Amino acid sequence: MSEAAQNNPAFTPRVFSGIQPSGGLTLGNYLGAMKRFLDMQGSGIETIYCVVDMHAITVWQDPEALRKQTRELTAGYLAAGLDPTKSILFNQSQVPEHAQLAWIFNCVARLGWMNRMTQFKDKAGKNAEKASLGLYAYPALMAADILLYHATQVPVGEDQKQHVELTRDIAAKFNHDYGTEFFPMTEPVIEGAATRVMSLRDGSKKMSKSDPSDASRINMTDDADAIAKKIRKAKTDPEPLPSEPAGLAERPEARNLVNIYAALSEQSVDAVMADVGGKAFSEFKPMLADLAVAKLAPISTEMARYMEDPAEIDRILADGASRARKIAAPILKKTYEIVGMVGA
Ligand code: AMP
Ligand code: TRP
Repeated sequence: MSEAAQNNPAFTPRVFSGIQPSGGLTLGNYLGAMKRFLDMQGSGIETIYCVVDMHAITVWQDPEALRKQTRELTAGYLAAGLDPTKSILFNQSQVPEHAQLAWIFNCVARLGWMNRMTQFKDKAGKNAEKASLGLYAYPALMAADILLYHATQVPVGEDQKQHVELTRDIAAKFNHDYGTEFFPMTEPVIEGAATRVMSLRDGSKKMSKSDPSDASRINMTDDADAIAKKIRKAKTDPEPLPSEPAGLAERPEARNLVNIYAALSEQSVDAVMADVGGKAFSEFKPMLADLAVAKLAPISTEMARYMEDPAEIDRILADGASRARKIAAPILKKTYEIVGMVGA
């Protein structure tokens, strides 16, 4: 039995996760999150995937760009293989219960907890006084996303672990304060070779859609030439690859490229190293570039095809939102009752 099931015997297993439409999708999003969402789609457990547009506006988004990126991210999910008849796929703002539950959680979460969130510190930077109140409250909205569906499992990349732990703290405090067992203790699912894909220009930084250098990341919309060029130019050290996986420990750039290779080829790092250990980068990089192009180019072509029919994308999101609401509305109503809201 999974850890989530053991900890939540009273809850039907359910998967929820989200990605922000705050820029293009990167290889980090794909390997760390989306590809693993798809693996869970066929597992027999209900899967709910969200385009979290309300999280995106915690930092400034141009309205036209936000609309386009929301549709593009949806096209990315579909192109990568998400089946909207098997999973629920929708954008967060179409289910107002997210914002409603988030307010309740704003009143459960403590300032001290929020002050420990490393993503806020990173995003707000030195000028935290100028950050939006929404950016600060962001993790409480994320807890609402998850707990509105009583989700037991949340597949995410390594950087979201702290937020899922905060979700458990919020659930535990709510349950304790109101003397109930209403919310589950959600488990983060952080698995695979690419839970933290690093920048191609700096092995100590996460690959991110907001990095000013486009060469630092592979975008899911990059064509074959761009992908091959970025990999060829990726920063490495002058040594050939080590012969043993342990030799990667102190070589972040080499480790990152091997991890990407392992995740794209769906092999373990040990299996990849048995193949490529000892090779020079001049030999390994073209292998990685070929693999990346073979795996990613068809997705970017499919994405472009979906983008030709935005009305169909909007229809899929609206249908997903109405199915999501059917689950969310009764859970919000019950929460209001527990809290003491008249009329709930
Ligand atoms: P975001 O783009 O911040 O909304 O992230 C969406 C999902 O992608 C989350 O589960 C992140 O943990 C995951 N993710 C983002 N960047 C990376 C990366 N460089 N490596 C692995 N996972 C990532
Ligand atoms: N905070 C997540 C990120 O930036 C996105 C997100 C919002 C999310 N709500 C979620 C992820 C709920 C998992 C579950 O990556």
